Amino acid sequence: MAGTAQLPDAASSRIAAVIVLAAGAGTRMRSSLPKVLHPIAGKPLIWHAAAAAGALSPQHLVAVLGHGRDRVQEFLAAAGDLPPVTIAVQDEQLGTGHATSCALAALDAVPEGTVIVSYGDVPLLRAETLAALADEHQRSGNAVTVLTATVADPTGYGRIVRDESGALAGIVEQKDADAAQRAITEINSGVYAFDGAVLAEALPRVGSANSQGEQYLTDVVGLARGDGRRVGSLHADDPMETEGVNDRVQLAQLARVLNDRIIRSHQLAGVTIHDPATTWIHADVAIGQDTEILPGTSLEAGTVVGAGASIGPDSTLSACTVGDGARVVRSHCLGAAIGVAATVGPYSYLRPGADLGEGAHVGAHVEIKKSTIGAGAKVPHLSYIGDATIGAGSNIGAGSITANYDGVGKFPTTIGENAFVGTNSTLVAPVTVADGAYIGAGSTVTDEVPAGALAVARGRQHNSDGWVLRRRTGTASETSARAAGATDRDTPSKEPSA
Ligand code: UD1
Ligand code: CA
Repeated sequence: MAGTAQLPDAASSRIAAVIVLAAGAGTRMRSSLPKVLHPIAGKPLIWHAAAAAGALSPQHLVAVLGHGRDRVQEFLAAAGDLPPVTIAVQDEQLGTGHATSCALAALDAVPEGTVIVSYGDVPLLRAETLAALADEHQRSGNAVTVLTATVADPTGYGRIVRDESGALAGIVEQKDADAAQRAITEINSGVYAFDGAVLAEALPRVGSANSQGEQYLTDVVGLARGDGRRVGSLHADDPMETEGVNDRVQLAQLARVLNDRIIRSHQLAGVTIHDPATTWIHADVAIGQDTEILPGTSLEAGTVVGAGASIGPDSTLSACTVGDGARVVRSHCLGAAIGVAATVGPYSYLRPGADLGEGAHVGAHVEIKKSTIGAGAKVPHLSYIGDATIGAGSNIGAGSITANYDGVGKFPTTIGENAFVGTNSTLVAPVTVADGAYIGAGSTVTDEVPAGALAVARGRQHNSDGWVLRRRTGTASETSARAAGATDRDTPSKEPSA
């Protein structure tokens, strides 16, 4: 699963802390939702950052929160698939250096060993890259190791300044850089590995005498080097990994890149995805081998698809489970369970609590809510089934409906095994149709139908012979009727009109 891979022990446990900075306002999102709660691939930005950090099994995972911190904290506390997160509060955003000081202050002691700093709005950074940064940092015996990237347009980024030998000399922010420095295309990603003690010792010495009046975390590089400590860098192969989200244009761009990555991992695991451009798969979705995903399909959070299934085209599944060999065609399914070899669609709507047994068939234009459809049972055409239990092998005729709502409350419908509901029937709940019962087409069923009985609940048919010849004189219908041998035998006293 994307972002949540557990790394080998060798790359973990050596990490004393990962600090995720996420206190910024995110003004350019123009949103009432805190920036780091905007989702891509079905998970908030900060989930991706925390999941990558968590995969390193650090002793401490700290998030520095400020703007919208209540909502972000609430999300982190409730997320069942993240390690515990220590919250550090930064009330005023005085800079990345100050934010990192807030994180250290939230811990009981200075973390001993490697401390990684990353951002809550950088969702594509992989755990493997963080582990490589930690490896490089420890292998080189560095006090500070900066993750750098080379970009076509470095505007806005801190530039990586190197000395004549090519060694890292410092980081200069865009606003403090001279023309020569601005031409540098190697940038600071904002992700670092520090020695915890060096970081704790340097941060109080970081001033704010710069063009933005902020405490720059980047100053720690120069301070450590000035103290005669080793500083170094690791160059990220893929600059997309270090891209942050500042506005909704970037949000969509990074969502696309992450989707491509997720799709590729499913393809390599044996899933056929016909059209990656129109297929969207959330980060936590699982798909079995030899399943086929057709164009225009979205598989959303909490969805698990078995092996050898076929989903799409033009289908959305959210929080659904789909059994092996099942097939869903042009349908919208929310919180539904679709059994092994069951079939759905085209054009059906499965709502929460729809539970289709093995080999069940839900056909075209059918809506199912909070109902169990037994193994091999069929609801093939144009039905609404709500709050119902339908036994194995039963057949619900075209257009049949469970009338589960009386304007005030909802009531259950129970249909046994191998029952047969004739077309266009209305089952007025609460009502029970027992095993092996039949219902005549067009019935409105209000009372229990016993096992093996036939219920017919509709007006009897009455034919007025010759009616068309008397009441539709001169029409094509009269001509056809006479040609077919119809005769005007009698004139009933009370004749119905059409
Ligand atoms: C920072 C780096 C810059 C680097 C760039 C990469 C500094 C001084 N500069 O730029 O070298 O190229 O990141 O994107 O560090 N944050 C807080 N509290 C604060 C300030 C920031 O939590 O007081 C968080 C923000 O929420 C954000 C991250 O830190 O997630 C980076 O902040 P941002 O203002 O975007 O970074 P820059 O200063 O532009
Ligand atoms: Ca930024």
